[in-house]
Amino acid sequence: MKNNFFKTFLNFTKNLKTTGAVYKTNKKVEQEVCSKIDKTSKIVIEFGTGYGNITQEILKRMPEDGKLYTFEVNEEFCTTVEKNIKDPRLFVINDSAENFGKHVKEPVDCFISTIPFTLIPKEVCLDIVNKSYEALKPERYFCKALYSKFHFKKFSNIFDDCSTATVLDNLPPVHIYYCKKTAIPNKMKGKKKKRFGLAKAF
Ligand SMILES: C[S@@+](CC[C@H](N)C(=O)[O-])C[C@H]1O[C@@H](n2cnc3c(N)ncnc32)[C@H](O)[C@@H]1O
Repeated sequence: MKNNFFKTFLNFTKNLKTTGAVYKTNKKVEQEVCSKIDKTSKIVIEFGTGYGNITQEILKRMPEDGKLYTFEVNEEFCTTVEKNIKDPRLFVINDSAENFGKHVKEPVDCFISTIPFTLIPKEVCLDIVNKSYEALKPERYFCKALYSKFHFKKFSNIFDDCSTATVLDNLPPVHIYYCKKTAIPNKMKGKKKKRFGLAKAF
């Protein structure tokens, strides 16, 4: 990537209300958040491209015939990523995460998200997570990097099996949420789930 430290810092800070961060996430976060992607992950959706650091890690792990749809609200970030990452598997979409269903019709093998949920209205967050659960293939993951564990219970209310890992050497430390859709949803296993239309979940 040709972006230097100051350009990234300046543009993240200038757009703090949508980036929710002053700098891109570090290598360890890139690897942890992408750890569920392998050569069977043919359709991947990323929310929050930024300058494409995680985008590149996803592409490294995906199969040659895969497709990565990455959603980013900042037009300048999209233009830079399109210029810097030349990969026929990559589709950069300058639209908000909640509209992913307008662009992607296939069942999804993995979602990777770094969008700042704390800065997005809770109804929109709920909509994104519910739609992602619906679009995900069984036994697959929605992986999310967040600065707090505050949202963990809310994700557990929607997904069937959730766990976290913490990357301490990012500044600030990052929590990775691994949210799995199981073949047999928890609801069927007798566990009461609060899914769909419950704005309270966020
Ligand atoms: C914390 S930055 C992460 C950027 C990069 N993925 C990284 O790990 O360094 C969050 C990114 O999400 C984008 N973003 C915020 N809200 C979004 C939304 N609703 N849909 C898509 N992208 C969004 C921001 O513009 C920003 O680029």
